[in-house]
Amino acid sequence: MECITKPSLNEKETEDNLLTNFSSMVLHDKEIQVPQEFVWPDHQKPSPNVPILQVPLIDLAGFLSGDPFLVSEATRLVAEGAKLHGFFLVTNHGVDEKLMSSAYTSMDKFFLSPTCEKQKAQGEWRESWGYANSYFGKCKKNLPWKEMLSFSFSPEEKTENHSQIVKDFIIEKMGDGYKDFGMVYQEYAEAMSNLSLKIMELLGMSLGLKRSHFKDFFEDNESILRLNYYPKCKQPDVVLGTGPHCDPTSLTILQQDNVSGLQVLVDNQWHSIPPNPQALVVNIGDTLRALTNGIFKSSLHQAVVNSETERKTIAFFLSPKVNKVVKPPEELGGERMYPDFTWSLLHEFVKKHYKTDENTLEEFTKWLKNGGNV
Ligand code: OGA
Ligand code: NI
Repeated sequence: MECITKPSLNEKETEDNLLTNFSSMVLHDKEIQVPQEFVWPDHQKPSPNVPILQVPLIDLAGFLSGDPFLVSEATRLVAEGAKLHGFFLVTNHGVDEKLMSSAYTSMDKFFLSPTCEKQKAQGEWRESWGYANSYFGKCKKNLPWKEMLSFSFSPEEKTENHSQIVKDFIIEKMGDGYKDFGMVYQEYAEAMSNLSLKIMELLGMSLGLKRSHFKDFFEDNESILRLNYYPKCKQPDVVLGTGPHCDPTSLTILQQDNVSGLQVLVDNQWHSIPPNPQALVVNIGDTLRALTNGIFKSSLHQAVVNSETERKTIAFFLSPKVNKVVKPPEELGGERMYPDFTWSLLHEFVKKHYKTDENTLEEFTKWLKNGGNV
Protein backbone atom coordinates (compact mmCIF):
# COMPACT_ATOMS: atom_id res chain seq x y z
CA MET A 1 0.00 0.00 0.00
CA GLU A 2 1.25 3.42 -0.87
CA CYS A 3 1.60 5.96 1.88
CA ILE A 4 1.35 9.68 1.51
CA THR A 5 3.16 11.71 4.13
CA LYS A 6 1.27 14.61 5.60
CA PRO A 7 2.84 17.75 4.06
CA SER A 8 2.73 19.97 7.15
CA LEU A 9 4.78 18.01 9.69
CA ASN A 10 7.00 20.11 11.93
CA GLU A 11 10.51 19.03 12.85
CA LYS A 12 9.48 17.22 16.03
CA GLU A 13 6.71 15.34 14.26
CA THR A 14 9.04 14.33 11.44
CA GLU A 15 11.52 12.96 13.95
CA ASP A 16 8.80 11.07 15.85
CA ASN A 17 7.56 9.62 12.60
CA LEU A 18 11.01 8.46 11.52
CA LEU A 19 11.62 6.82 14.87
CA THR A 20 8.25 5.11 14.96
CA ASN A 21 8.91 3.91 11.47
CA PHE A 22 12.27 2.51 12.47
CA SER A 23 10.88 0.82 15.54
CA SER A 24 8.02 -0.77 13.64
CA MET A 25 10.47 -2.01 11.01
CA VAL A 26 12.70 -3.58 13.68
CA LEU A 27 9.76 -5.32 15.34
CA HIS A 28 8.40 -6.77 12.12
CA ASP A 29 11.70 -7.79 10.49
CA LYS A 30 11.93 -11.52 11.17
CA GLU A 31 15.63 -11.76 10.46
CA ILE A 32 16.99 -8.75 12.26
CA GLN A 33 19.46 -8.99 15.15
CA VAL A 34 17.96 -7.21 18.13
CA PRO A 35 19.26 -3.61 18.31
CA GLN A 36 20.93 -2.67 21.59
CA GLU A 37 18.07 -0.39 22.61
CA PHE A 38 15.82 -3.44 23.00
CA VAL A 39 18.29 -5.53 25.02
CA TRP A 40 17.50 -5.65 28.75
CA PRO A 41 20.21 -5.74 31.45
CA ASP A 42 21.25 -9.21 32.61
CA HIS A 43 19.37 -9.14 35.91
CA GLN A 44 16.13 -8.40 34.07
CA LYS A 45 16.53 -10.78 31.15
CA PRO A 46 13.64 -13.25 31.18
CA SER A 47 13.86 -16.95 31.98
CA PRO A 48 11.64 -19.06 29.76
CA ASN A 49 11.14 -21.86 32.28
CA VAL A 50 9.60 -20.42 35.39
CA PRO A 51 7.20 -22.19 37.77
CA ILE A 52 3.47 -21.86 37.20
CA LEU A 53 1.62 -19.54 39.56
CA GLN A 54 -1.32 -21.21 41.28
CA VAL A 55 -4.15 -18.71 40.94
CA PRO A 56 -7.74 -19.20 42.06
CA LEU A 57 -10.26 -20.03 39.33
CA ILE A 58 -13.54 -18.20 39.96
CA ASP A 59 -16.84 -19.49 38.54
CA LEU A 60 -18.61 -16.20 37.89
CA ALA A 61 -21.89 -17.82 36.77
CA GLY A 62 -21.92 -19.66 40.10
CA PHE A 63 -21.60 -16.35 41.93
CA LEU A 64 -24.29 -14.70 39.81
CA SER A 65 -26.68 -17.64 40.28
CA GLY A 66 -27.16 -16.56 43.89
CA ASP A 67 -26.78 -20.13 45.15
CA PRO A 68 -25.44 -19.55 48.70
CA PHE A 69 -22.81 -22.27 48.46
CA LEU A 70 -21.49 -21.06 45.10
CA VAL A 71 -21.53 -17.43 46.26
CA SER A 72 -19.52 -18.20 49.37
CA GLU A 73 -17.10 -20.34 47.38
CA ALA A 74 -16.55 -17.51 44.86
CA THR A 75 -16.06 -14.83 47.55
CA ARG A 76 -13.63 -17.04 49.45
CA LEU A 77 -11.54 -17.79 46.36
CA VAL A 78 -11.49 -14.23 45.03
CA ALA A 79 -10.38 -12.89 48.43
CA GLU A 80 -7.56 -15.43 48.44
CA GLY A 81 -6.18 -14.25 45.10
CA ALA A 82 -6.80 -10.55 45.67
CA LYS A 83 -5.13 -10.50 49.10
CA LEU A 84 -2.18 -12.72 48.26
CA HIS A 85 -0.81 -11.36 44.96
CA GLY A 86 -3.78 -9.74 43.26
CA PHE A 87 -4.22 -12.25 40.41
CA PHE A 88 -7.11 -14.65 39.71
CA LEU A 89 -8.87 -16.27 36.75
CA VAL A 90 -12.55 -15.92 35.89
CA THR A 91 -14.52 -18.58 34.00
CA ASN A 92 -18.18 -18.66 32.93
CA HIS A 93 -17.84 -14.91 32.60
CA GLY A 94 -20.64 -14.63 30.04
CA VAL A 95 -18.70 -12.63 27.43
CA ASP A 96 -19.77 -13.81 23.96
CA GLU A 97 -17.19 -16.21 22.54
CA LYS A 98 -17.69 -14.85 19.03
CA LEU A 99 -16.99 -11.32 20.23
CA MET A 100 -13.81 -12.49 21.97
CA SER A 101 -12.60 -14.30 18.90
CA SER A 102 -13.30 -11.41 16.54
CA ALA A 103 -11.55 -9.03 18.93
CA TYR A 104 -8.58 -11.35 18.75
CA THR A 105 -8.49 -11.87 14.98
CA SER A 106 -9.30 -8.24 14.09
CA MET A 107 -6.04 -7.09 15.68
CA ASP A 108 -4.15 -8.23 12.56
CA LYS A 109 -6.01 -5.76 10.35
CA PHE A 110 -4.34 -2.93 12.21
CA PHE A 111 -0.99 -4.31 13.33
CA LEU A 112 -0.12 -5.92 10.00
CA SER A 113 -0.77 -2.68 8.10
CA PRO A 114 2.19 -0.63 6.85
CA THR A 115 3.69 1.62 9.51
CA CYS A 116 2.51 4.78 7.79
CA GLU A 117 -1.07 3.49 8.05
CA LYS A 118 -0.69 2.77 11.76
CA GLN A 119 0.82 6.20 12.26
CA LYS A 120 -2.51 7.76 11.36
CA ALA A 121 -3.65 6.71 14.83
CA GLN A 122 -0.40 7.67 16.51
CA GLY A 123 -0.62 8.62 20.18
CA GLU A 124 1.96 9.15 22.88
CA TRP A 125 3.61 6.30 24.77
CA ARG A 126 1.59 5.72 28.00
CA GLU A 127 -1.27 7.80 26.65
CA SER A 128 -4.81 6.52 26.95
CA TRP A 129 -5.41 6.50 23.22
CA GLY A 130 -3.76 5.77 19.91
CA TYR A 131 -1.02 3.70 18.35
CA ALA A 132 2.32 3.46 20.10
CA ASN A 133 5.43 1.43 19.70
CA SER A 134 8.61 1.74 21.64
CA TYR A 135 10.02 4.52 19.53
CA PHE A 136 13.26 6.07 20.57
CA GLY A 137 11.87 9.49 21.43
CA LYS A 138 12.24 9.69 25.20
CA CYS A 139 13.96 6.54 26.22
CA LYS A 140 16.86 4.85 24.52
CA LYS A 141 17.14 1.65 26.52
CA ASN A 142 15.08 -1.29 27.76
CA LEU A 143 12.55 -0.81 25.00
CA PRO A 144 9.61 -3.21 25.04
CA TRP A 145 9.19 -5.63 22.14
CA LYS A 146 5.64 -4.66 21.26
CA GLU A 147 3.19 -2.34 19.60
CA MET A 148 -0.06 -1.16 21.14
CA LEU A 149 -3.32 0.43 20.14
CA SER A 150 -5.27 2.03 23.00
CA PHE A 151 -8.78 3.43 23.28
CA SER A 152 -10.36 5.57 25.98
CA PHE A 153 -13.72 4.20 27.03
CA SER A 154 -16.54 5.37 29.24
CA PRO A 155 -20.00 3.81 29.40
CA GLU A 156 -21.43 7.17 30.46
CA GLU A 157 -20.49 8.93 27.26
CA LYS A 158 -22.60 6.51 25.34
CA THR A 159 -25.80 7.24 27.26
CA GLU A 160 -25.18 10.97 27.46
CA ASN A 161 -24.11 11.76 23.92
CA HIS A 162 -25.23 8.62 22.11
CA SER A 163 -21.66 8.49 20.87
CA GLN A 164 -19.68 5.33 20.48
CA ILE A 165 -16.38 6.52 21.76
CA VAL A 166 -14.18 3.62 20.64
CA LYS A 167 -15.73 3.25 17.20
CA ASP A 168 -15.83 6.99 16.55
CA PHE A 169 -12.19 7.39 17.54
CA ILE A 170 -10.87 4.77 15.16
CA ILE A 171 -13.02 5.92 12.24
CA GLU A 172 -11.86 9.48 12.78
CA LYS A 173 -8.21 8.40 12.69
CA MET A 174 -8.26 5.54 10.18
CA GLY A 175 -11.26 6.23 7.95
CA ASP A 176 -14.47 4.39 7.10
CA GLY A 177 -12.62 1.18 6.25
CA TYR A 178 -12.33 0.71 10.01
CA LYS A 179 -16.10 0.77 10.75
CA ASP A 180 -16.44 -2.95 11.48
CA PHE A 181 -13.14 -2.98 13.33
CA GLY A 182 -14.34 -0.09 15.49
CA MET A 183 -17.64 -1.79 16.21
CA VAL A 184 -15.88 -4.93 17.45
CA TYR A 185 -13.83 -3.02 20.02
CA GLN A 186 -16.75 -0.78 20.96
CA GLU A 187 -18.77 -3.88 21.86
CA TYR A 188 -15.79 -5.53 23.48
CA ALA A 189 -15.12 -2.52 25.75
CA GLU A 190 -18.79 -2.40 26.75
CA ALA A 191 -18.78 -6.13 27.55
CA MET A 192 -15.59 -5.77 29.63
CA SER A 193 -16.93 -2.74 31.47
CA ASN A 194 -20.07 -4.70 32.41
CA LEU A 195 -18.02 -7.71 33.42
CA SER A 196 -15.68 -5.61 35.53
CA LEU A 197 -18.66 -4.25 37.50
CA LYS A 198 -19.78 -7.80 38.31
CA ILE A 199 -16.28 -8.68 39.45
CA MET A 200 -16.25 -5.51 41.57
CA GLU A 201 -19.49 -6.66 43.25
CA LEU A 202 -17.85 -9.97 44.08
CA LEU A 203 -14.69 -8.27 45.36
CA GLY A 204 -16.75 -5.89 47.54
CA MET A 205 -18.69 -8.80 49.05
CA SER A 206 -15.47 -10.64 49.78
CA LEU A 207 -14.52 -7.69 52.02
CA GLY A 208 -17.90 -7.70 53.76
CA LEU A 209 -19.02 -4.52 51.97
CA LYS A 210 -22.44 -3.92 50.47
CA ARG A 211 -22.68 -5.68 47.12
CA SER A 212 -23.37 -2.41 45.30
CA HIS A 213 -20.55 -0.46 46.92
CA PHE A 214 -17.82 -0.78 44.29
CA LYS A 215 -20.32 -1.20 41.47
CA ASP A 216 -21.71 2.25 42.23
CA PHE A 217 -18.19 3.65 42.48
CA PHE A 218 -17.12 2.35 39.06
CA GLU A 219 -20.43 2.60 37.22
CA ASP A 220 -19.34 5.75 35.36
CA ASN A 221 -15.78 4.47 34.86
CA GLU A 222 -13.31 6.15 32.49
CA SER A 223 -11.29 3.18 31.39
CA ILE A 224 -8.74 2.15 28.78
CA LEU A 225 -8.91 -0.71 26.29
CA ARG A 226 -5.51 -1.74 24.96
CA LEU A 227 -4.51 -4.13 22.20
CA ASN A 228 -1.00 -5.52 22.74
CA TYR A 229 0.83 -7.01 19.76
CA TYR A 230 4.08 -8.85 20.52
CA PRO A 231 5.90 -9.83 17.30
CA LYS A 232 8.12 -12.89 17.40
CA CYS A 233 11.77 -12.22 18.08
CA LYS A 234 14.95 -13.97 17.00
CA GLN A 235 16.49 -13.50 20.45
CA PRO A 236 13.58 -13.74 22.90
CA ASP A 237 15.91 -14.29 25.86
CA VAL A 238 17.34 -10.75 25.71
CA VAL A 239 14.10 -8.75 25.30
CA LEU A 240 10.85 -8.20 27.17
CA GLY A 241 7.46 -7.66 25.52
CA THR A 242 6.33 -5.59 28.48
CA GLY A 243 8.83 -4.76 31.21
CA PRO A 244 8.08 -5.34 34.91
CA HIS A 245 5.31 -3.04 36.12
CA CYS A 246 2.23 -2.82 38.36
CA ASP A 247 -0.95 -1.59 36.68
CA PRO A 248 -1.71 1.86 38.13
CA THR A 249 -5.42 1.43 37.23
CA SER A 250 -8.04 -0.38 39.35
CA LEU A 251 -8.83 -3.75 37.81
CA THR A 252 -7.34 -5.32 34.66
CA ILE A 253 -9.12 -7.97 32.62
CA LEU A 254 -6.74 -9.66 30.19
CA GLN A 255 -7.61 -11.89 27.27
CA GLN A 256 -4.51 -13.96 26.49
CA ASP A 257 -4.20 -16.02 23.33
CA ASN A 258 -2.85 -19.57 23.43
CA VAL A 259 0.77 -18.39 23.52
CA SER A 260 2.43 -18.20 26.94
CA GLY A 261 4.07 -14.98 28.01
CA LEU A 262 2.52 -13.48 31.14
CA GLN A 263 4.72 -13.66 34.25
CA VAL A 264 4.07 -12.42 37.80
CA LEU A 265 6.63 -11.77 40.53
CA VAL A 266 5.65 -13.61 43.71
CA ASP A 267 8.08 -14.16 46.60
CA ASN A 268 10.82 -12.62 44.53
CA GLN A 269 10.51 -15.24 41.82
CA TRP A 270 8.91 -14.94 38.38
CA HIS A 271 5.97 -17.29 37.84
CA SER A 272 3.95 -17.81 34.67
CA ILE A 273 0.22 -17.70 34.18
CA PRO A 274 -0.26 -20.11 31.28
CA PRO A 275 -3.07 -19.55 28.76
CA ASN A 276 -6.48 -20.98 29.64
CA PRO A 277 -8.91 -20.54 26.73
CA GLN A 278 -11.91 -20.75 29.06
CA ALA A 279 -10.70 -18.04 31.41
CA LEU A 280 -9.86 -14.35 31.55
CA VAL A 281 -6.96 -13.21 33.73
CA VAL A 282 -7.91 -10.54 36.26
CA ASN A 283 -5.51 -8.52 38.38
CA ILE A 284 -5.73 -5.79 40.98
CA GLY A 285 -4.18 -2.43 40.09
CA ASP A 286 -2.72 0.19 42.42
CA THR A 287 -5.87 2.33 42.53
CA LEU A 288 -7.90 -0.58 43.90
CA ARG A 289 -5.09 -1.41 46.27
CA ALA A 290 -5.43 2.12 47.67
CA LEU A 291 -9.24 1.95 47.63
CA THR A 292 -9.10 -1.15 49.85
CA ASN A 293 -6.54 0.48 52.15
CA GLY A 294 -3.88 -1.99 51.07
CA ILE A 295 -5.94 -5.13 51.78
CA PHE A 296 -5.86 -6.14 48.13
CA LYS A 297 -2.39 -6.42 46.59
CA SER A 298 -1.01 -5.45 43.22
CA SER A 299 2.01 -7.35 41.90
CA LEU A 300 4.78 -6.71 39.44
CA HIS A 301 4.17 -8.51 36.18
CA GLN A 302 5.76 -8.63 32.72
CA ALA A 303 5.31 -10.25 29.33
CA VAL A 304 7.96 -12.33 27.57
CA VAL A 305 8.06 -13.06 23.84
CA ASN A 306 9.24 -16.04 21.82
CA SER A 307 10.86 -16.90 18.51
CA GLU A 308 8.12 -19.18 17.18
CA THR A 309 5.00 -17.11 17.02
CA GLU A 310 3.67 -13.66 17.71
CA ARG A 311 1.48 -13.13 20.78
CA LYS A 312 -1.61 -10.96 21.08
CA THR A 313 -3.41 -9.88 24.22
CA ILE A 314 -6.28 -7.48 24.95
CA ALA A 315 -6.36 -5.62 28.24
CA PHE A 316 -9.27 -3.67 29.71
CA PHE A 317 -8.10 -1.33 32.47
CA LEU A 318 -10.98 -0.29 34.71
CA SER A 319 -10.53 3.18 36.25
CA PRO A 320 -12.86 5.44 38.21
CA LYS A 321 -14.25 8.59 36.68
CA VAL A 322 -11.23 10.88 36.70
CA ASN A 323 -12.25 13.30 39.42
CA LYS A 324 -13.83 10.84 41.84
CA VAL A 325 -12.05 10.75 45.20
CA VAL A 326 -10.37 7.41 45.88
CA LYS A 327 -10.94 6.80 49.58
CA PRO A 328 -11.39 3.43 51.30
CA PRO A 329 -14.84 2.77 52.82
CA GLU A 330 -14.88 3.42 56.59
CA GLU A 331 -16.10 -0.15 57.23
CA LEU A 332 -12.68 -1.48 56.26
CA GLY A 333 -11.13 0.20 59.30
CA GLY A 334 -7.40 0.20 59.92
CA GLU A 335 -4.95 3.05 59.83
CA ARG A 336 -5.00 4.87 56.49
CA MET A 337 -2.15 3.74 54.25
CA TYR A 338 -2.56 6.28 51.46
CA PRO A 339 -4.04 9.78 51.24
CA ASP A 340 -7.21 10.56 49.28
CA PHE A 341 -6.50 11.11 45.60
CA THR A 342 -8.14 11.14 42.19
CA TRP A 343 -7.31 8.87 39.26
CA SER A 344 -6.52 11.92 37.15
CA LEU A 345 -3.69 12.82 39.56
CA LEU A 346 -2.28 9.31 39.77
CA HIS A 347 -2.51 9.03 36.00
CA GLU A 348 -0.65 12.29 35.54
CA PHE A 349 2.01 11.11 38.00
CA VAL A 350 2.68 7.83 36.19
CA LYS A 351 2.62 9.44 32.76
CA LYS A 352 4.96 12.30 33.54
CA HIS A 353 7.05 11.52 36.57
CA TYR A 354 7.32 7.88 37.41
CA LYS A 355 7.61 4.46 35.82
CA THR A 356 4.97 2.17 37.34
CA ASP A 357 6.40 -0.41 39.73
CA GLU A 358 5.83 -1.87 43.19
CA ASN A 359 6.64 1.51 44.81
CA THR A 360 4.29 3.64 42.74
CA LEU A 361 1.79 4.31 45.55
CA GLU A 362 4.49 5.22 48.07
CA GLU A 363 6.24 7.55 45.61
CA PHE A 364 2.92 9.06 44.56
CA THR A 365 2.06 9.69 48.23
CA LYS A 366 5.38 11.54 48.69
CA TRP A 367 4.74 13.53 45.52
CA LEU A 368 1.28 14.54 46.75
CA LYS A 369 2.64 15.57 50.14
CA ASN A 370 5.25 17.60 48.34
CA GLY A 371 2.56 19.56 46.57
CA GLY A 372 3.00 17.74 43.26
CA ASN A 373 6.74 18.32 42.89
CA VAL A 374 9.29 15.59 42.25
C1 OGA B 1 -0.49 -4.83 30.47
C2 OGA B 1 0.05 -6.18 30.72
C3 OGA B 1 0.46 -8.41 29.91
C4 OGA B 1 0.33 -9.22 28.69
O1 OGA B 1 -0.88 -4.56 29.30
O2 OGA B 1 -0.52 -4.03 31.43
O3 OGA B 1 0.50 -6.43 31.81
O4 OGA B 1 0.50 -10.44 28.80
N1 OGA B 1 0.01 -7.08 29.73
O5 OGA B 1 0.04 -8.66 27.63
NI1 NI C 1 -0.05 -4.89 33.25
